[in-house]
Amino acid sequence: MKPPVYFIDGEFTTCAKIPVDDRGFYFADSVYEVIRAKNKKPYFLKEHIKRLKRGLRELKIIEPSYLKDIENIVNEALERLNVYESSIYIQITRGKEQRHHLPKEGIAPTFLLIASEFKPLSHNLLKNGVPLIFYEDIRWGRCDIKTTMLLPNVMAKLEARERGYFDAVFYKNGIITESTSSSFFAVKDKKLITHPKDTNILPSITREVVIEKIAPNLGMEVIERPLKVEEISEIDGAFLAGTTYDILPINKIENIDFRVPDTILQIQKSYFVLVDEITK
Ligand SMILES: Cc1ncc(COP(=O)(O)O)c(C=O)c1O
Repeated sequence: MKPPVYFIDGEFTTCAKIPVDDRGFYFADSVYEVIRAKNKKPYFLKEHIKRLKRGLRELKIIEPSYLKDIENIVNEALERLNVYESSIYIQITRGKEQRHHLPKEGIAPTFLLIASEFKPLSHNLLKNGVPLIFYEDIRWGRCDIKTTMLLPNVMAKLEARERGYFDAVFYKNGIITESTSSSFFAVKDKKLITHPKDTNILPSITREVVIEKIAPNLGMEVIERPLKVEEISEIDGAFLAGTTYDILPINKIENIDFRVPDTILQIQKSYFVLVDEITK
């Protein structure tokens, strides 16, 4: 793997450092995005930046001036990295100051971008699916903001690994919300069911692409409704959707096995065709 390219507070570098006094370090007072690129071309960049800006507004973090020039910065980072498959990580923290819960007014945000080589999931996993555990959704009440406060997600992934599973799916009050770093879709009678967009889930870009572009093209209906944990035994299949997982079938949740229905493989194929069109 090639070493990553960093852009921090206006400079490209091969070694980025963050001061201890950064509020991102003390309080996870920050938002982030992960964007993929192929052939040095990012995809769904505008959608990711829109979500990032919304997060900044919700948290009352000042918008860094670098966001105005984000396309050029991303392109330059991808040129410097110079690989076929890459990911771009952007993190914006409220800024640096001595540690106080209440931030001073007007502190300058920290802007960090990292372009790294990316290894997509194997063909085998994408075709045959992955097993998941259930994990109680102990996250805060604003999961619609993409903050770096990800400890419950880390704990869920750790438990999944300890038990020999690939990842976890969160449930809250008996309802499936989403996975630790991707959206969750169930398939039943060729219809897709996914949690409605509210403060319990991240407004996932890949979820939106499936709902707005892929499902209508394939003539599939999408129902945005809460899915109960006990309904899992009645569905035909399920998949995860997210920037890093693409469209990833699920072959088991806890002790319930699923086959991978053609419906899911069609959605996956359409997603890859769409990404290839954007990045060719
Ligand atoms: C909790 C959570 N849900 C869903 C997603 C998928 O979002 P996207 O499709 O924008 O990558 C992510 C991505 O990081 C996530 O962390």
